[in-house]
This record gives sequence, C-alpha cells and structure tokens, in this order.
Amino acid sequence: MDPVRNPYAPGAGQRPPELAGRDRELAQFDVVLERVAKGRPERSLVLTGLRGVGKTVLLNALRSQAIQRLWGTGKIEARPDQSLRRPVAAALHMAVRELAPRHRNPDRIDDFLGVLKAFALRDQKPAKGTARWQPGIDVPAARGRADSGDIEIDLTELFSDAASVATDVGAGIALYVDEMQDIPPDDVSALCAACHELSQTGAPLIVVGAGLPHLPSLLSSSKSYSERLFRYVRIDRLSREAADLALTAPAEREGVAFTPDALDALYAAADGYPYFVQAYGKVAWDAAPESPITVDDVKVAAPEAEAELAVGFFGSRYERATPAERDYMRAMASLGDGPVPTAEVAKSLGRAPSSLSPARDNLIKKGLIYSAERGSIAFTVPHFGHFLRSQPA
Ligand SMILES: Nc1ncnc2c1ncn2[C@@H]1O[C@H](COP(=O)(O)OP(=O)(O)OP(=O)(O)O)[C@@H](O)[C@H]1O
Ligand SMILES: [Mg+2]
Repeated sequence: MDPVRNPYAPGAGQRPPELAGRDRELAQFDVVLERVAKGRPERSLVLTGLRGVGKTVLLNALRSQAIQRLWGTGKIEARPDQSLRRPVAAALHMAVRELAPRHRNPDRIDDFLGVLKAFALRDQKPAKGTARWQPGIDVPAARGRADSGDIEIDLTELFSDAASVATDVGAGIALYVDEMQDIPPDDVSALCAACHELSQTGAPLIVVGAGLPHLPSLLSSSKSYSERLFRYVRIDRLSREAADLALTAPAEREGVAFTPDALDALYAAADGYPYFVQAYGKVAWDAAPESPITVDDVKVAAPEAEAELAVGFFGSRYERATPAERDYMRAMASLGDGPVPTAEVAKSLGRAPSSLSPARDNLIKKGLIYSAERGSIAFTVPHFGHFLRSQPA
C-alpha cells in the first residue's frame, strides 16, 4: 500500500495515530486536575513501565489535558548528573508565560519571574572562560526567595510562588518530568519534599512523572512518604483489544482493513508492546499490495520489522554497553526473560557478585536494566533477552 499514507509511527515519544488502551489513565487524570483546581487533596500520577511502552506519549497526552483546562504547563526530561535547577526554571517559565496574559496584575508576574531568575542563577559556578548562563528573563533577579542554595527550600518556595500566580487566574500548574529515575538523588528528595509541602497547603501545582519500573522504589528510598504523594500507574502492554484498535483505527481512516488472522499474527509478533505494534504495523502496511492486509503480508513483512528492531530499538542500546556490560547482559539473557537474581548472574559468569557491581550499576545508570525485587534485576527493554540470545556471541 502507498507508503506515503502509512499512518504508523514507531518512534520515541511520537504521537501514535491512535492512542489506544489508555482511557482509564486519561480519565483518572481528569479527576486529579479537577480536584487540584478545587484545592482538594489529591495525589499526582507517576507513570512507570518498560522502554517503548508509551510513557512519554501518555505524559504528553496528560499535558494536553491540562492545557485544555487552561492550566500552565511545562515539561522536563531529567538527565543523570544534571541538577533540576535550570530545567525546572525553564519549564515553570513556560508555564507562567501561558498564564500571564490572563493575569490582571503584570507586576505579580514580574515578581515571580524575578524569583524564578534568582532560583535559576543560584549555585552556578561557571567554568573558566565560559559566560555565566542567563535564563531568558528580562526582569532583575529577586533576592531572599528561592535563592538559598538549598534545593529543597528553594524548590518549595518557587513552587509555592508559581502556584499562587496560578491561583490568581483560577488555574493550576502542571510540571511534567520524563525519565524521572534519572534525577540526581538530592534533587529527587527535594522534589518530593516540595510536592509534599504544596499538597499540604492545597496549592494548585502538581508534578506528573514518568520513568522506569524501579522509579517507585527510588522515590520511597528518597522520602518514605512518597508513596502517599504519588499514585503509581503501571503502563503496560496493550490488551489484545487495544492493540487491534491501535492498528485498525488509523487504517480505517485511510480506507484500509486487516483480515482477522493478520491481526492474530500481528499481536503474536508485537506482544502488545506499543512500539512493536507500530513497527510491525508499519512494515505490514508497506508489504500489502492491497486492502485488506492479510496474514501472508504480515509474514512477508515480519523479517523486515525484526531487522529494523534489531538495529534501531535493540542494537542502538546494545551499542551503548561496554564489553563487560555486554557479558553481564548476555548472562542475564541466558537465565531467562523475567527478573533474575544477581547472585545467579554472578554464578553463571563464574565471578564474585561484588566484582560485577560496577557493570551492573553502569547498566542501571544507562537505563538498560533495573533492579526489580530485592536482589534481582531485569531488562528495561522488552524482548531484550530474546534479542541477545539470537545474536552471535
Ligand atoms: N497507547 C498507544 N497506542 C498506540 N501506540 C502507542 C501507544 N503508546 C505509545 N505508542 C507508540 O509507541 C512508541 C513508543 O512510545 P513512547 O516513546 O511514549 O514510549 P516510552 O515508554 O516513553 O519509551 P522510553 O522508556 O524508551 O522513553 C511510539 O512510537 C508511539 O507511537
Ligand atoms: Mg519515553
């Protein structure tokens, strides 16, 4: 079929042609927005799940929901070794700019921007010879608020000032944090504390997060009350029904159908993982000479999809690992697909567990594996074990 009209979109954070199987989460978040706007106590959402399961896409959809309610919104993507200061400042700057035109008192906005600038500029020691970074804010930095240098105090003050600007215009602010597991430990603890403080005052600012499956345990070890602060929503594979809808709805809009056994074969191949659904859907479309797309088209297309996944989805991640880290992952893969005890991995490599800690920790830092239950680890990438087993050693 015409590749130009191919609707499927395997990508990172790319909006799918049909956001399938996420109605519950969208409805839940509507309630959160409504309650927070009314000053009612409410826990924010934190989405967790494996790579390619649709966390970023859903986070973006939740952001659209807040924008529809005329909230101010901003988004950051956390990175290891990067302090939250600049990205949070930039995101809140954007959020408040969305609210500013509706504010009756421009001085209040300027006051807030002064605090925001002070927050952003605090704590920076510019490297020799480089210019001091300047946030694009025209007002002078304020003094004595959100600039103590203690990130916990500063975030709390900044959030509460941002929330009060939102209160003035009868709206709220939502700050979206993707790859939340990558926030440095001090900052994550400060972020939880600031959210905690705000939730107690009923201020209309919420943090909505997304990250890998171990994010809840990271947050609880940072602040024990974080499980009462956030509602963890596990984003998982799509059900058969949702996966079919993800394929058929966009096709239908182009006047194209699937035979039932083509859908069976696609579900078997993609296993309900949204990224795979898009990847297999895309090649099946291109392979089919005409509508409906048949099981034979899927069979012809599948090797191409697998080859593309091997290079893009799996290969690009595998490339990021050092030889020692690759050995570690191969050992994991040889033990099965679920979480595997780290002690077993060490045994299969014939090494002392402690000697493998650097490889394991680096793989966690690179986001390739995560520590599941106590003492065991798992791949963050679905079907990664299968991919490794099919690679020549
Ligand atoms: N609900 C859905 N229905 C159909 N397709 C989806 C859905 N959610 C995500 N996708 C598709 O899956 C792909 C991956 O989504 P996304 O980038 O949001 O995953 P992710 O969980 O953020 O992955 P990572 O952990 O690697 O960042 C996208 O190309 C998107 O089009
Ligand atoms: Mg993502």
